[in-house]
Amino acid sequence: MTNVFGMHPPQQVGDGRPTGHEQVVFCRDEPSGLRTIIAIHSTALGPALGGTRFHPYDSEDDALADVLNLSRAMSYKNALAGLDHGGGKAVILGDPGRDKTEALLRAYGRFVQSLGGRYVTACDVGTYVDDMDVVARECEFVTGRSSTHGGAGDSSVLTAYGVFQGMRAAAAHLWGAATLAGRRVGIAGVGKVGRHLVEHLRGDGADVVVADVSEPAIERIRAAHPEIDVVAGADALIREPIDIYAPCALGGALDDATVAALRATVVCGGANNQLDHPGVEKLLDERGVLYAPDYVVNSGGVVQVADELGGFDFDRAKAKAAAIFDTTMEIFALAEHDGVPPAVAADRLAERRMAEVGRLRNILIDGRGALRHADR
Ligand SMILES: NC(=O)c1ccc[n+]([C@@H]2O[C@H](COP(=O)([O-])OP(=O)(O)OC[C@H]3O[C@@H](n4cnc5c(N)ncnc54)[C@H](O)[C@@H]3O)[C@@H](O)[C@H]2O)c1
Repeated sequence: MTNVFGMHPPQQVGDGRPTGHEQVVFCRDEPSGLRTIIAIHSTALGPALGGTRFHPYDSEDDALADVLNLSRAMSYKNALAGLDHGGGKAVILGDPGRDKTEALLRAYGRFVQSLGGRYVTACDVGTYVDDMDVVARECEFVTGRSSTHGGAGDSSVLTAYGVFQGMRAAAAHLWGAATLAGRRVGIAGVGKVGRHLVEHLRGDGADVVVADVSEPAIERIRAAHPEIDVVAGADALIREPIDIYAPCALGGALDDATVAALRATVVCGGANNQLDHPGVEKLLDERGVLYAPDYVVNSGGVVQVADELGGFDFDRAKAKAAAIFDTTMEIFALAEHDGVPPAVAADRLAERRMAEVGRLRNILIDGRGALRHADR
């Protein structure tokens, strides 16, 4: 890859295969130390929406590969969440603990603003609602701000709610009733999403067992729910006799070894990119494990922040996130009908909506532009 920070036509990455992105912009502001890459995968359904990841990448190529993958995934997530948004994402290269300053965030905001609304930013790993408040001082195309600034606040609230809806759908599909009552659910990672998920599950009468690498996270959940079990780590959780495994920590939770050892019959969790490599969805299928695709069931967060763009209304956003139940059911039905794993069925549904609804932009509403074009 080139190392030029400027407009860049990056239609290829890594192995040279086309990535299908519409636009990728490299931006740099030397005095504040900002280096950012903004990737717009698709605006077929509307302005590209996706968060800003602030991460100390080993190289610019790593950052580029990450932002291309993440932005593409947002196109699919936003399409199946029923949003009028395409997919985009941004990465800021640096250590958020060391490099994040007001000047850097505001410089970033100015670059997002310069895209004229083709990309709307929000929080992701390494950025928080308070950061979006700062970005918003330079930029109108930002969401996921704090509630004191009229924002939707912490998106993990509806992310967890959506994951719970996905689990209810899996239970309905597999066991004939949309409830987790009496089921044993293992949650790997009780951070923001995992913690809220515990509340939903306990409220529904499920038994819960958790694992986390952070002692404070375990202490917090133990204090709130002394009745739940704790095991030593995600590996131990996989070997536990559980009905549902919920990865709620980092990506790549499911690889050949974990699928082989897994005792759960359902996988449904909040983490992004749970499948370590292409083909894991087939392994799960072959083992008779029902996989609720990650980007479908964890879309409650983006539904929450998308709602903010029209003036945030929690009840309206929650009602939209509840539709994750129906979407997940539809994916399971399509997977059965087409004889493919649910992950493949989800991609098919997303691509169908992008094609069918995206195509509508070809219906001309304002003919003036076309006439001007014809005059030339
Ligand atoms: N927050 C959201 O709205 C949202 C939306 C969509 C997807 N997600 C995804 O959900 C996941 C969790 O997000 P979050 O906001 O709760 O993050 P978080 O940082 O608050 O929580 C993650 C938790 O996982 C734990 N963890 C890390 N590595 C672990 C391991 N190997 N085994 C067990 N636990 C481990 C951490 O200690 C932490 O407690 C991430 O993959 C994130 O990308 C979050």
